[in-house]
Amino acid sequence: MTACSEQNKPNAILRLLRHERAGTEVPAATLPHHHAGALSRSETIDTSGAGQYLAAMSKIAVIPGDGTGPEVTREGVKVLTAASKKFSIPLSFQTFDWGGEHYLKTGETLPPDAVKTLKGFDAIYLGAIGHPDVKPGILEQGILLRLRFELDQYINLRPVKLYPNVETPLANKKPEDIDFVIVRENVEGLYIGSGGFLKKGTPDEVAIQEMVYTRKGVERCVRFAFDLTRKRNKMKKLTLSGKTNVLTYAQDLWFRTFQEVAREYPDITTDYAHIDATTMWMVKNPEWFDVIVTENMFGDIITDLGAMVQGGMGVAAGGNLNPQGVSMFEPIGGSAPKYTGQNVINPVASILAGAMLLDQLGHAKAAEAVEKSVMAAIGRMKSMAAGKMGYSTSQVGDLVAAGL
Ligand code: IPM
Ligand code: MN
Repeated sequence: MTACSEQNKPNAILRLLRHERAGTEVPAATLPHHHAGALSRSETIDTSGAGQYLAAMSKIAVIPGDGTGPEVTREGVKVLTAASKKFSIPLSFQTFDWGGEHYLKTGETLPPDAVKTLKGFDAIYLGAIGHPDVKPGILEQGILLRLRFELDQYINLRPVKLYPNVETPLANKKPEDIDFVIVRENVEGLYIGSGGFLKKGTPDEVAIQEMVYTRKGVERCVRFAFDLTRKRNKMKKLTLSGKTNVLTYAQDLWFRTFQEVAREYPDITTDYAHIDATTMWMVKNPEWFDVIVTENMFGDIITDLGAMVQGGMGVAAGGNLNPQGVSMFEPIGGSAPKYTGQNVINPVASILAGAMLLDQLGHAKAAEAVEKSVMAAIGRMKSMAAGKMGYSTSQVGDLVAAGL
């Protein structure tokens, strides 16, 4: 919910320039969709009023994806559309049908011009990637990771917040105990895919997977975390989570960088915890955390733990941020194939990802309003679990949209 406004400013100015230029030529709503490739399901929904070409139109690329992805993003777009009307934020949506079905039909994960196309948008709103008929790894690598890397979305921002009326598996923990944010480095480390085999398939086989970090990559992530901690203005405490006792090269770089950058933030209390101990404290004393910054793979693991602590995949949202470029917002949960098409999946995580998107585009008030309306809806829901909410997927979306 809380990206850094300072870092947004140049982005907002660029956006304004880009759209003013576009606006003097052809209204966005009538632009031909040549840049969308040969997709059948692309459309632009213009949610703004007549004054749209005076204000900066934010173009949002929607990738509903697989399984229940389309159902939850539909509710998210419903809420974003309602927010755009209420707060006079000109938004346009264009849908791209990339995902498992597209791959099975065409053999491509993303069309060759996908990244270039997406660079023409202000944000990406993603549902879920993962199809039961596609070998695990293909869609994850070919769509999700590729977009994170090629759009240089170097921050994975995952708030862990327990809302009132949401059940946490942690005994005796209340909403005031669980409210922190995990800043996960998102484009380096083990995820870059550096390594190889030697003598593969023989008894002498060697497999290497390298954790690669750059000073620049670590520093920009650490800086983002310090800025965020300052902006949140809660405990003003930033915890670096690492493994300096074993990973004596990569984690040494993290530790040194963290200490050096910390000198520029005397108002922020710093702390360090090994990643294994972090999982312990997240369960035993989540109230100790304000912001946690960590490397990519550790962040992957502890954000799933965070999602459970905050009440499950139905509520956990995340943002893949490039503060200077195009960011992508998604519910953390997967495509949940067994619930597909039943109108029973919980859209709250997707709607909250939409709130993060609004915040990143500089619409903090609208983002807050969406979060408040989600909280009111949650107050009426029986459970966060699919099929047990007391409402259908679309009814939850209606509740949130109406409550703005
Ligand atoms: C996540 C997911 C991805 C990751 C997978 C699907 C590649 O688990 O977003 O946390 O490991 O980052
Ligand atoms: Mn994960």
